[in-house]
Amino acid sequence: MRLDILTLFPNMMTMFFEESILKRAQKKGLVEVVFHDLHDYSLTKYGSVDDYPYGGAAGMVMAVEPLANCIEGLQKERHYDEVIYTAPDGEMLSQPMANQLSLAENLMILCGHYKGVDERVREHFITKEISIGDYVLTGGELATAVICDTVIRLVPGVLGDEQSALGDSFQDGLVAPPEYTRPPEFRGWKVPDVLLSGNHAKIEQWRMEQALQRTQERRPDLLKASNDLKDLKDIKDLKKR
Ligand code: ADE
Repeated sequence: MRLDILTLFPNMMTMFFEESILKRAQKKGLVEVVFHDLHDYSLTKYGSVDDYPYGGAAGMVMAVEPLANCIEGLQKERHYDEVIYTAPDGEMLSQPMANQLSLAENLMILCGHYKGVDERVREHFITKEISIGDYVLTGGELATAVICDTVIRLVPGVLGDEQSALGDSFQDGLVAPPEYTRPPEFRGWKVPDVLLSGNHAKIEQWRMEQALQRTQERRPDLLKASNDLKDLKDIKDLKKR
């Protein structure tokens, strides 16, 4: 996968991609991340790419021409599966969306800033707008880092143990069950017996029950959305037998 990130602040982002799994993904040649400093596309001698909004509102707006030049220059080189714009009014980032994006070959992400971008950029170049939550960030860089993190770890081969991504919270519409590691007892706080039993079927069943219970307690909205309440009832019925 190739990721082209268009930003006014590349330095803010590079560090994030130089550590841990994102670094390993690039080292393994599975993911290439290329930053484009939008100042390089400025049409002014001051390097600015923003301008005052028509109509006299407060704040600055990223101008259409430098952004068009950057985006079209890249599109001449290769086809992009999506040209993404980060914005608080975009579609909410979700695990199914990340799964879908992880299958892409080339993604372009434009980090929004200031008051936003000239609407014509959104109308004519952007194919997908993503929000990471109902709050306003100073810029799209953090949102882009979050999107890249959740997508890159799903690219086949990036995680050593493929199962660990499938077991993530939200992958099956549920939050993840609790995990424990050694020692089996600390200050009298014990690891649940079933996890030490070696009975894989029982452990699997315990994990599923825990995931369902936690989801019901912490994120009932997920259950409502995915109709898993029915599954919970089925499981409880099964246990009664
Ligand atoms: N830019 C500013 N706020 C944002 C948000 N919540 N999500 C994505 N991009 C943003």
